[in-house]
Amino acid sequence: MFYRGRRLRKNPTIRQMMKETVVHKEDLILPIFVVEGNNICREISSLKGVFHYSIDRLDEIIEQMQSAGILSCILFGIPDHKDHCGSEAYNDNGIVQQAIRYIKAKAPDIYIIGDVCMCEYTDHGHCGILNQEGDVDNDTTLTYLCKIAVSYAKAGIDMVAPSDMMDGHIQAMREALDQAGYVTLPIMGYSAKYASSYYGPFREAANSAPAFGDRKSYQMDCANSKEAMREIEADIEEGADIIMVKPALAYLDIIKQASAYHVPLCAYQVSGEYAMLQMAVAQGLMNESVLDESLLAIKRAGADLIITYDALNFVKRNQL
Ligand code: PBG
Ligand code: ZN
Repeated sequence: MFYRGRRLRKNPTIRQMMKETVVHKEDLILPIFVVEGNNICREISSLKGVFHYSIDRLDEIIEQMQSAGILSCILFGIPDHKDHCGSEAYNDNGIVQQAIRYIKAKAPDIYIIGDVCMCEYTDHGHCGILNQEGDVDNDTTLTYLCKIAVSYAKAGIDMVAPSDMMDGHIQAMREALDQAGYVTLPIMGYSAKYASSYYGPFREAANSAPAFGDRKSYQMDCANSKEAMREIEADIEEGADIIMVKPALAYLDIIKQASAYHVPLCAYQVSGEYAMLQMAVAQGLMNESVLDESLLAIKRAGADLIITYDALNFVKRNQL
């Protein structure tokens, strides 16, 4: 006798009953890019369907989130002024701080996550403060990252997510937040963040490509998985409330391994992953359900949460 797997695929009802993995809209986190200026809602050329918003137009994307039932966003700021020490990042009146206050006033229930990094704010485009050799100085950078996190906290952020890949950043940030009185503010570590080419469209959108060199002295080598587990363990020991793997689709093995830790796991479907699929759909090469398929794969591999540029369209496509 052979296995008749088709018995349980016979009609839509039984297929629905047999479904092992479901992506819920509650799992999805929408990245939002905030720029300085007025009356700006400009499509990002490298990321179709994703826009730059000035503060005064943020209500449009917030309303879309509310009507779609997307609970959370992650903010990225693009300041006009960049300098060697990224001073706009920890300016209490900086672009992200203003956006946090604006969104909290309009829609207090939207859960706001703040990406904490320096590359959008430094004139050299690296994720921290440079030493004399032109490499990012780890421990000096920690004090700056802490200033950013506390500044976001003062503005009313719900969660901080350091994406800088400095050693000891979770511990430093936890101490800084606690000392400032924010003991209940969670930290999501970009724990296993690879030095990936999939960030290309984001760097164009955020004008944050490094002016020289690359990020390989702080972001991880794409070849490594043991190292990813070591990074995750370090973040957990230092007090991360949520861990992350980034990018997602090319790193499903890492997501699967990371899901063994008893810590909530987020995966970031990054700009290049989204852009590739979105362009293939736009060109008629694939049906748009390929985007659902890739989110499903990320969830099935073990992610609890997914950061994706596709969050709003996911809801529309699936009529949720
Ligand atoms: C900042 C940061 C980056 C991304 C998230 N936070 C860019 C980078 O590390 O170069 C990438 C997100 C994406 O590609 O969608 N460090
Ligand atoms: Zn960075």
